[in-house]
Amino acid sequence: MIEAGSSTDIPEGSYRIIEGPGGPWIVVHTEGGFHAVRDRCGHFPQSMDGGRLNGYRWRCPHHGVTYDIRTGEVVDDVGFVDLDPLTTAACEVREDGMVVIDTDTDTISDADTDNGDTD
Ligand code: FES
Repeated sequence: MIEAGSSTDIPEGSYRIIEGPGGPWIVVHTEGGFHAVRDRCGHFPQSMDGGRLNGYRWRCPHHGVTYDIRTGEVVDDVGFVDLDPLTTAACEVREDGMVVIDTDTDTISDADTDNGDTD
């Protein structure tokens, strides 16, 4: 588990990037709650800091590929092929208001779980 900060510090419609296992993670606050994805685009392996949130859709700031932040699935490939989904992890708010991400390998959604990368 890694702590992303107080839920009051991440208002709905905003996000925060934090360091965690495998590199940085993006914690997004949607109308449906908090969601966590690894901060590495499925198009090119670079940060998506500066992306736009529209409902549950997260648009990468570089070339516009859009993902469902809940599942990591690509919802608009803008013409690119063979895109990887985003790695997701369970995210919840503890009783004390702290947003926590469960980065245990059994909650991470994609093939990143087999690379042993825990830095
Ligand atoms: S790097 Fe994200 S869409 Fe190209």
